[in-house]
Amino acid sequence: MHLGFRFESYQGDLKMSFPSLLLIDSDANFEIVLLKARQVIDSRGNPTVEVEVVTQGNGVGRAIAPAGASKGKYEAIEKRDSSDKRFFGKAVYTAVHLINTEVADELIGMDSRKQWIIDRRLIELDGTPNKARIGANAIVATSLAVAKAAADTYGMPFFWYIGGRRARLLPVPLMNIINGGKHAGNELAIQEFMIVPAGADKFSEALRIGCEVYYKLKELLKRTYGKSAINVGDEGGFAPPMKNTKEALDILLKAIEEAGYSHDVVALALDAASSSFYDESKKVYRIDGKELSREELIDFFRELIEEYPIVSIEDPLEENDFEGFAQLTREIGKRILIVGDDLFVTNKKRLSKGIEIGAANAILIKPNQIGTLSETIEVVELAKRSDYKTIMSHRSGESEDSSIADLAVGLQTGIIKTGAPARGERTAKYNQLLRIEEFLGDEAEFLGFRVFPSKPK
Ligand code: PGA
Ligand code: ZN
Repeated sequence: MHLGFRFESYQGDLKMSFPSLLLIDSDANFEIVLLKARQVIDSRGNPTVEVEVVTQGNGVGRAIAPAGASKGKYEAIEKRDSSDKRFFGKAVYTAVHLINTEVADELIGMDSRKQWIIDRRLIELDGTPNKARIGANAIVATSLAVAKAAADTYGMPFFWYIGGRRARLLPVPLMNIINGGKHAGNELAIQEFMIVPAGADKFSEALRIGCEVYYKLKELLKRTYGKSAINVGDEGGFAPPMKNTKEALDILLKAIEEAGYSHDVVALALDAASSSFYDESKKVYRIDGKELSREELIDFFRELIEEYPIVSIEDPLEENDFEGFAQLTREIGKRILIVGDDLFVTNKKRLSKGIEIGAANAILIKPNQIGTLSETIEVVELAKRSDYKTIMSHRSGESEDSSIADLAVGLQTGIIKTGAPARGERTAKYNQLLRIEEFLGDEAEFLGFRVFPSKPK
C-alpha cells in the first residue's frame, strides 16, 4: 500500500485515516495532458525557454528559465543554438523542440504531483551528468511548470504547495542597488553592492525602506557624478562611473543616512563574484587598480567588515578555492555570512564538500544552476541540516516569472536576492512576496537580523 501526500488507489482503511482527502478530486485530475515549450526573451533581450503544463483538472503552470552572465564554471549547461545565425547564436529552438517532442511524449500522462519521479525522468532522458543534451534551461522551466500546474490543480498558491502550512517565513531582501562587474559598464570589480533592510519588522516594511534608500542614492549619484551616473545595470541597480569598492560603500552609507536610517535598520552585503576578476595564470585578483594575492584579498575583506556594517559576502574568492573559503569562514564566519554561489552552484556534491571542510556558512540557491526543482529542494534541505543559511536567488537575466518568490517562502530560505526595486523582472518577485505576505496576514513571519550570524556594529 502506497501512502503519499495523497493515496493512489482507494483503500477502505485509509478512508478512516485520511477522511479529508476524499474531498480532493480524483487522481486523474493531476495527470499532465499538455506540455508545451516556446522561445521567449529575457530581460537582456536574449532568447529563453518558457514551458506551459496543463493537467486534466485544468491546472495550469507556466515557468520561464532565467540566465546568468557571471555563470559558475560548474553549473548545469544552458543549451543554445550556437551555430544558428538567428539571435547571433543565442536562440533556444533546439531545446524548445526537445521539450515539445521527446519530453512531452514522456511526461504526458504522468501525475504532476510526482515531482521526484518526473525530475528523475528528465535527468535520465537528458542522459548527461550536467544536463547538456536537453539543456538545464529547458529542464528547469519544465520542472517548475509541472509543480505549478499541480499546485493550480489543487487551487493552492504555489508557495503553499511547496511548503504547506509551515511556510510562513517571508525572506529578508538583499537589494542590489549598485551594479559592477559583469553586470555593468563601469570599473567596479565587485559585482553587487546590496542594502539589507533587516531592521524592519516585516517584509513589506523592509521593501519600503529599501525603496526609500534607492531614491536617495539616485539623488546622491546625480549630485556627485552627473546625470549619466543614474543609468541602471542588469539587476536594476545604478551603474555609476566608479572605480573603487570603498567609494561605492561610502555612497551607500550616505544614502542610508539621508533616507533617515541607521545601521540598526539597514546593513550592507556584497557579492564579489571573485572568479570574474581572478587571473588564473598569475593567481591574482584585479581589484581597485591593484593585483592582490588570495591572502591580500582576505585581508581586504577583513578590513571592510571592520569599517562597514556588512552582514554578508558572497563569493569572496574564486570558485575553486574551497580552502580559502574555509579559512575566511573560520576567521569571520561568526560575524557575517560567507556565501557560496559559483563555489557551490546549487549542487549537492559541491555543497557536501564545502560542509566537510567548513567552506562558507551559507549557500545561494539558483534552481537553474542545477536544473530541477527536486534537486533544488534537496540542496536546501542538506544546507539546513548542516546549519548553512540559504538565500533564494534570481539571475541577472530574468523575466516576469516570479517562481523564486514562492520558492523562498515555500522552502523557508529566510533570505532572497532579487535585485533593485526597479525593472519589471525584479519587481515581479517583490510584488509576489507582497501578495504572499498579505495572504498569510498575521501568520507571516520575518526574522530580520536574526537570519544573520550577528547584527552589524
Ligand atoms: P549571474 O549573477 O546571474 O549573472 O550569474 C548573479 C550572481 O552572481 O549572484
Ligand atoms: Zn553571485
